[in-house]
Amino acid sequence: MLKPNKLVNKNFLSSLDMSSEEVNHIMELAENFKNKNLNIDLNNKVLGLIFDKSSTRTRVSFQVAMSRLGGNTIDLNPITSQIGRGEPIKDTARVLSRYCDVLAIRTFNQYAIEEYAKWSSIPVINALTDLEHPCQALADYMTIKEEFNDFKKVVLTFIGDGNNVANSLILCGALLGVEVRIACPKGYEPNSLVINKANAISKKNNFLKITNDLYSAVSGANVLYTDVWSSMGEENKKEDKDKDFHGFTIDSNLVEKAAKDAIILHCLPAYRSKEITDEIIESKNSRIFNQAENRMHAQQALLSCLLS
Ligand code: CP
Ligand code: NVA
Repeated sequence: MLKPNKLVNKNFLSSLDMSSEEVNHIMELAENFKNKNLNIDLNNKVLGLIFDKSSTRTRVSFQVAMSRLGGNTIDLNPITSQIGRGEPIKDTARVLSRYCDVLAIRTFNQYAIEEYAKWSSIPVINALTDLEHPCQALADYMTIKEEFNDFKKVVLTFIGDGNNVANSLILCGALLGVEVRIACPKGYEPNSLVINKANAISKKNNFLKITNDLYSAVSGANVLYTDVWSSMGEENKKEDKDKDFHGFTIDSNLVEKAAKDAIILHCLPAYRSKEITDEIIESKNSRIFNQAENRMHAQQALLSCLLS
């Protein structure tokens, strides 16, 4: 019977905290959880959720995943806990390590989550930072695998801002051997450290293409993926970014340039008629709601590996 294997790294702060074998193992477990072929009991282990930003999918999918594993969740609201008052991370992390078995943290700076990991004796999971969204990438590639099975034949084009979601797609794509293209307006290219790390681990020549030319990036792609133009924490940049991203919209005209069987992904929440049209979200090519569902199965797999 399939069993969750312990991961080499204690924490999941970046997509690169896993090896390609580990990502494939997580996806196999997730598929088995989804098909109800696998039952794991974590015996009342407790997941602490610290969310400095809003969330629907990540929060609820972690809560349900934990409950399906026979565990519990505590939602540590930064406003009603002492976290919002500015208690040092090194104190909070050491205290929570004595109550909980694992923490999932959504915050701004990657440094903050690294600080939590440094001072925690329990695993820490990145539930989104400005730099990465590694749990999202696990569900995204699970959804792509459901469609195409073999990653080696897949071209994924991400259209939008080169920040958290794009960065984790690049890194996890490098682990899995997917060809990744990023189409963004000038000045919104992904983090150069992320690009260098991805190029260093990818076994594929020219696996990554970063371009400002939307149409060349979309041509023949199997997956078109987008995210909001202005991320959480960028509310004051909205007006400028709306102008800068003008034209970077997944609409029916753009979808025609992709491969015939191309699927559409979006991490959600979406701004319909900005980065994607309502018609495309609702189209037969869209796998957006399967992708959202897969967050829960992938995180159930992640938690069972981290806590086994
Ligand atoms: N995709 C995602 O992380 O959604 P939430 O912000 O609702 O958690
Ligand atoms: N880039 C978006 C992703 C939301 C899931 C943000 O950071 O707000």
